[in-house]
Amino acid sequence: MTEEDNCWIIVTGGQKGGTGKTTIATNLATLFAAMGWKVLLVNADNQRSLVTWNDQRAELGRETVEGQGKDFHELTLVSQFGKNLHKDVKKLTPQYDVAIIDAGGFDSTEFRSALLVADVLVSPINASSFDTWTLSQVHEIIEGAKINNPDLKAGLILNRVNASSVSEAKAALRAIVEDEEDPLESFFLYKKAIVNRNAYSRAPALGLTVHEMPRPDAKAKEEMVALQQEILEIFTAASEEAA
Ligand SMILES: Nc1ncnc2c1ncn2[C@@H]1O[C@H](COP(=O)(O)OP(=O)(O)OP(=O)(O)O)[C@@H](O)[C@H]1O
Ligand SMILES: [Mg+2]
Repeated sequence: MTEEDNCWIIVTGGQKGGTGKTTIATNLATLFAAMGWKVLLVNADNQRSLVTWNDQRAELGRETVEGQGKDFHELTLVSQFGKNLHKDVKKLTPQYDVAIIDAGGFDSTEFRSALLVADVLVSPINASSFDTWTLSQVHEIIEGAKINNPDLKAGLILNRVNASSVSEAKAALRAIVEDEEDPLESFFLYKKAIVNRNAYSRAPALGLTVHEMPRPDAKAKEEMVALQQEILEIFTAASEEAA
């Protein structure tokens, strides 16, 4: 963020294959839009699930939301690929309040590039399959990105956790990150863990997010709002540091 460019940049990425990157990107995007922020969504993953979601949103989502008498929040979606993604995104950000980049797995050029301009990384990880090798690879990439982008805040968030085992999952992840022999010091852990709930898999079929659904799942909504709140606190702390 600079004086001319007040746009915050969030990246969802890191872990491979179905951990919840796109789910978190879309839910955060609509929550920021609901606050009146101008939101840029960047699809940087060639699986294009964000593009499919956005197409559904323009048709089914708009009808559903407006049919309930709710506001339909406009988002802008662009696709950007390649090693210059960070430069291409920075050309667009002066027109937005927040940009959310849905990047691919840790070994993608897009993920590495996005981290060069990110304020915050949200890296979802599934409790059922901690992959410590991948975690240390992602950590290495973050340490590399921090050479050029020292203020990057890189957080891991548990996703699809069983409601009855949230504390165990948190403790297991904390033990890996704080391992005495090989601590992953560049990661912090988001306080909120996201539980495995049908609401998260139902909403994308309509191009919506959990809080926009006709009968929103209150717990899912609360989780996403809590995650957004943690991110807003990071923004506030960063602004105060810069002042
Ligand atoms: N907390 C959750 N509860 C239930 N289902 C979830 C949850 N989070 C994600 N899902 C579902 O899991 C699947 C994978 O999620 P998503 O597409 O967000 O992951 P991804 O990391 O973007 O995947 P990819 O690596 O393929 O891009 C989707 O069907 C999504 O609806
Ligand atoms: Mg995805």
